[in-house]
Amino acid sequence: MFDKRFRDRISVRKQEGLYRNPLVIEKREGRFVTIKGRRVLSFASNDYLGLGASKALAARVGKHFNAFASAAASASSSRLVAGNYDTICRAEKTFAEYFGYEDALFFPSGYQANLAILSTLFETGDTLLFDKHVHASSVKGMALSAATLKGYRHNSLAHLEKRLNAVPLGNRAVVTESLFSMDGDLLPVKALGQLKETHGFYSVVDEAHAFGVLGDKGRGIAHGVADIALGTFGKALGLFGAFVLLPQGVKEYMVNFASPFIYTTALPPAHALAAVDALELVEQGDHARKTLGQVSVAMHEALTRQGFEVFGDAHILSVMMGDEERAVRVSRELLLRGILAFPARFPTVPLGKAILRLGMTALHREADIQTLVNALKEVA
Ligand SMILES: Cc1ncc(COP(=O)(O)O)c(C=O)c1O
Repeated sequence: MFDKRFRDRISVRKQEGLYRNPLVIEKREGRFVTIKGRRVLSFASNDYLGLGASKALAARVGKHFNAFASAAASASSSRLVAGNYDTICRAEKTFAEYFGYEDALFFPSGYQANLAILSTLFETGDTLLFDKHVHASSVKGMALSAATLKGYRHNSLAHLEKRLNAVPLGNRAVVTESLFSMDGDLLPVKALGQLKETHGFYSVVDEAHAFGVLGDKGRGIAHGVADIALGTFGKALGLFGAFVLLPQGVKEYMVNFASPFIYTTALPPAHALAAVDALELVEQGDHARKTLGQVSVAMHEALTRQGFEVFGDAHILSVMMGDEERAVRVSRELLLRGILAFPARFPTVPLGKAILRLGMTALHREADIQTLVNALKEVA
């Protein structure tokens, strides 16, 4: 019964070129990973500042996880039971202060955080206006909220305004991202702020790919426009888990009503200490941010010069492939030439708009750009 359904669906996925079978990474050293014993150059991570591969951060994380008595490697229960460690509470305050928000709330993952925010804060009678390219976790969170959902064209504030004019004033919120995870383009944040002033709405901005990299000392670009912002530890901060920046009253509400927060084991106290260390490294990361900016611009220009259709305003670049099978084939051929680049396909991106997603990092060098461009010219 169920088995047949599962088999049939997998078989359709294969026919459509949408089947997933993630590669096994045996080892990572800086911008290189080892796959089937071969060292390949990776453009497939979100480790924008290189902290995920940094010995300095690893040493500090190790130290905290080893300090058994004070930090503990597991919270061993939900925050609402016996997991509300002082180290976590203090780390949340540090994050709120750094990013300029009233308070913060940590989550085991960004997926869970988006699910929690959107499904808890919004309900029947509310309207959520959302950019059609927001992350799957936001889509799932909105779907669980029972609010009325109105999508607007990707990054089109003109379309958002049209939508705003058509929905009643009152309980309405806009859900968007500051740097889009697949398209790599930036939210026109100033224009969104102006729209917020004229039309009055609540705003939830996912800064998962911007925090740590964009804005002064990596503080993101949506401060002052976002009522609630989401960041993850698993990208530029080189760790795992997520933080939500929010007003104190909303934190209180989440702690009391957010099922994905209440009924889950808290991140380890040792993680909270490591997160504060990661933030310290982010603050000191001007050099890495500058390098990342330079290699990203250089890659964008080099690909464009070779005639590729490239999108992306910052460190996430997408090279248009269109056909799903072509994207997979190109990625496979690149791997044979020692390069790892992720073919993003439906449902991650719209059907027929498959891309090769390049995640640039501060670890990349000028020579890597030429390596990628030459190989891509050969295979695409
Ligand atoms: C925009 C965006 N939000 C949220 C997430 C989820 O974060 P996490 O990986 O911590 O679950 C991701 C990707 O992973 C993302 O790209």
